[in-house]
Amino acid sequence: MQRVVLAGRAVDVAWVDLGKEPLRNDWLDDAEHARAQRFIKSDLRDRFVAAHCALRRILSTKLDEPPHQINIVRDSFGKPQLGDHPALQFNLSHSEHYALIALADVAVGVDVEHLIAAPTEALASEVLHPVEFAHWKSLDPAQRRTRLTEQWTTKEAALKAAATGLRVSPASFEIASPMHICFETVRFQVAWCPLVAPEEYAAALAVAEAA
Ligand SMILES: CC(C)(COP(=O)(O)OP(=O)(O)OC[C@H]1O[C@@H](n2cnc3c(N)ncnc32)[C@H](O)[C@@H]1OP(=O)(O)O)[C@@H](O)C(=O)NCCC(=O)NCCS
Repeated sequence: MQRVVLAGRAVDVAWVDLGKEPLRNDWLDDAEHARAQRFIKSDLRDRFVAAHCALRRILSTKLDEPPHQINIVRDSFGKPQLGDHPALQFNLSHSEHYALIALADVAVGVDVEHLIAAPTEALASEVLHPVEFAHWKSLDPAQRRTRLTEQWTTKEAALKAAATGLRVSPASFEIASPMHICFETVRFQVAWCPLVAPEEYAAALAVAEAA
């Protein structure tokens, strides 16, 4: 676990190598089992199971409860929460061989992405605000790949901290410090930072508070 202080709030962050996480199917709840069954490719299913085992292992240590007894529920946006410990917030992200898990006493979001292989302008325009898109187009191809993945992880971590996920278009706002995210009548102020990620990955962390 790595402790990060963001906007004065302490967040514990853990990287997980999904290939090294023991697959404990007996730790998963019915919803996790059902989702795992839907994967056709076994390597993708194993990574999903590994990510959820890692989450339960880390929450188990924090809460001093057996991993299979951790009660994970979803809020009205579908963001996973702890049914029996509402004060402890967490968030999970997984991409290819790695998962990223954050724990905090504030709404938290994380995102890890493998570097986008060959980013198209169509994809970039879905992720970036028009001002960001204009700047991105001026970069050379090698910079474009890294930059778009970094911006994508920053925006997705922010949207996950706010719990809206992609109900809010990442292209609808610019990355700023802090960022303001609005959805219907709800407004959040979001602080964020990049995280040092394994080679060929980018990652970001965000915390959100009602504004
Ligand atoms: C949450 C979301 C951003 C995930 O993006 P992703 O890059 O595919 O996946 P990540 O690995 O980074 O994150 C997935 C994890 O985020 C968590 N998560 C799910 N919904 C979340 C939400 N609303 N807010 C924060 N975290 C959420 C879960 O732990 C999930 O893990 P799981 O799928 O293994 O259960 C995306 O699925 C989303 O926006 N969902 C909510 C809105 C929605 O369903 N929209 C439909 C399309 S518009």
